Amino acid sequence: MSSDLTFTHDTRLILPSLLAADWSRVGEEVRRAEEAGARWLHLDVMDGSFVDNLSFGPQMVKTVRRLTGMFLDTHLMMHRADHYLDRFLEAGADNITLHLEADYETSVADTLARIRAAGRQCGLALRPETPFEAALPYVRDIDLLLVMTVVPGFGGQAFMEKETMPKLSQARDYRDENGLHFHLEVDGGVYEDTAAIARRHGANLFVCGTSSFAPPDMGAAMRGLARAVEGSGNQ
Ligand code: DX5
Ligand code: ZN
Repeated sequence: MSSDLTFTHDTRLILPSLLAADWSRVGEEVRRAEEAGARWLHLDVMDGSFVDNLSFGPQMVKTVRRLTGMFLDTHLMMHRADHYLDRFLEAGADNITLHLEADYETSVADTLARIRAAGRQCGLALRPETPFEAALPYVRDIDLLLVMTVVPGFGGQAFMEKETMPKLSQARDYRDENGLHFHLEVDGGVYEDTAAIARRHGANLFVCGTSSFAPPDMGAAMRGLARAVEGSGNQ
């Protein structure tokens, strides 16, 4: 299992999202992402309740874990993530990101603490309509903040620039002014143009589903996305 996140938030990574892969040949798709240069792979877990879609659970995380040493960034779009947490930890997730808006048997804070106690990285995700202020009680305890740039639940949606970019730069400014270190991740509708916009607002982790897996030459797609987020990052 890789232990990553030792880099600073000036390091920019493109994270292919397995949701957009061809699931009839998962092994080859994971290898394609690796060969295309991905260091992190994004895994979307959907419960059919917190979001209006179902995807996969710990079994898929475990399967992917056996296939790769890439850092597994696990995005839990589900209620009661605390109930299932041990299964995701046992499956080998490197980072587990929880949604602030979901229901928990215990609490978001307790669940984040359990992830850290297991020696893994933890993240907190905000739906587009959730204000940054709602994350303030947790920002000292997280490795990444995921600012959703679409309504979670489906790949292939349009990037919600107006609704989410002010929040992203607010999070970046708060982090920098307060000496915090969490990474800023965007997820949903991220292509070269929208990745560049997100970069200017502070993102350094870019989840790319359709834009990475759909092109036949994934390496070229990843290089194009990486080029789009180069530069100073200043607005
Ligand atoms: C959406 C998921 C995303 C999804 C993004 O709810 O969280 O990770 O895979 O897909 P694209 O990049 O196609 O918008
Ligand atoms: Zn996701």
